[in-house]
This record gives sequence, structure tokens and C-alpha cells, in this order.
Amino acid sequence: MGETIRLDKPDLAGSLTLEQAIAKRRSRRDFSSQPLTIKQIGRLCWAAQGQVADEGFRTVPSAGATYPLELFVVTADGLFHYLPTAHALEKLSPKDLRSALCEAAWGQEFIEAAPVTLVFAARFERTTGRYGQRGTRYVYAEAGHAAQNVHLQAEALGLGSVAVGAFDDAAVKKVLALPRELEPVYMVVVGHCPERKKNRP
Ligand SMILES: Cc1cc2nc3c(=O)[nH]c(=O)nc-3n(C[C@H](O)[C@H](O)[C@H](O)COP(=O)(O)O)c2cc1C
Repeated sequence: MGETIRLDKPDLAGSLTLEQAIAKRRSRRDFSSQPLTIKQIGRLCWAAQGQVADEGFRTVPSAGATYPLELFVVTADGLFHYLPTAHALEKLSPKDLRSALCEAAWGQEFIEAAPVTLVFAARFERTTGRYGQRGTRYVYAEAGHAAQNVHLQAEALGLGSVAVGAFDDAAVKKVLALPRELEPVYMVVVGHCPERKKNRP
């Protein structure tokens, strides 16, 4: 086990209404190098996969509550694994993997420039074990739910975000040193976007 970083409890009183966050969301790729605070990272992780009930239910729906997704966070400070029950980050590596992740995503440069990329990986068997092949589509649907929560949370924090589906699965798996049973399925890149601040009324 690596170092574990406890995250702040989520603040449920955001500054935007849900409707404002939905209306403002756009894919943004013009990230500055300004890092995110641990508080901001905690909010994004919570939106993506946080536990919201003692029974283990999370912020996103999951087919049969099988919860196949594992969330990894790539920053300049290293690679982290989100632990929903503890609402904490486990540090897996101190290396800055952003450049390698950018390369694994066919050179989409904003991944290297942005301070944070959330990578969703799936343990498909958790869901296909119950639902058979149909479980595969349930896993991808769940990743979509989780990513949308991240987009809306990013908007509510005044940050920008973009979904990334174009990447080489094997290469991402290697960069993150994922175990055999985990497959990367989706990413959301998040950061400060200077253009967006300029455009504010
Ligand atoms: C499944 C999926 C995969 C995507 N993959 C990428 C990607 O690899 N790179 C990228 O720059 N944008 C990616 N996008 C973002 C789309 O380009 C973007 O959502 C679309 O242009 C509509 O713009 P909007 O998000 O601002 O409404 C992806 C979106 C989805 C839903």
C-alpha cells in the first residue's frame, strides 16, 4: 500500500445551479499549467465515484450496484487510485505520467498540458459475471454517467474539462501499470482554462 491522502468531505453547496452547470458545459482543451488543489481533486473524485450511502451506493448509477469502475488520477505529483469508501487517494507512483499518457492517447497534447486526468478503468467481470455479455454495455454506460458527473462538477468549480475516448488501450494500461483484469475505458481531462475566464461577463 502506498501513502494514503484523506480528502475533505464534499461541500454540497456549490456556487452554480445544476441547470447552469449543464448549460455552461463545453469540451475545453486550452488548459493552463496551474495545478488543481487537493480540494478540487477531491470534489472531482467524489463526483465520479464517491460513496453517498452507508450501504455502499455511489454518486453514479451502476447496473445491479456491481460497481465495476476504478478511478485513477494522473497529476504532476504522480499516479493515484481513488478509494470511494474512505474518500481518499492512494499514491501508486510519484512519477509524472502525463507525457506518457498523452502519447498513449495518440498525442492529444492537452493531456500533457493539463494538471489532472481522471482515468476510468473497468473490472468488466464484476458486471458481466451477473449479466453476461450484456454487462459490457452496462459498464460503458456507467463510465458515461461518471464522466458526466465530472464534467458538471468541473463546471461548478469554474474549471474546464474534456472527455477522451481516443487512446490505445494497451498503451494506457502499460502507462498506469494496471493489473491484468482492469481495462481503461474512458478519461476526463480537467484544468484551468484561461480563455474561459476572459469570456466571463
Ligand atoms: C465517447 C466520447 C469520446 C470522446 N473522445 C474525445 C477525444 O479523444 N478527444 C477530444 O478532444 N474530445 C473527445 N470527445 C469530446 C467531443 O469531441 C465533444 O464532446 C464534441 O465535440 C461536442 O462538443 P461539446 O462537448 O463542447 O458539446 C469525446 C466525447 C465523447 C462523448
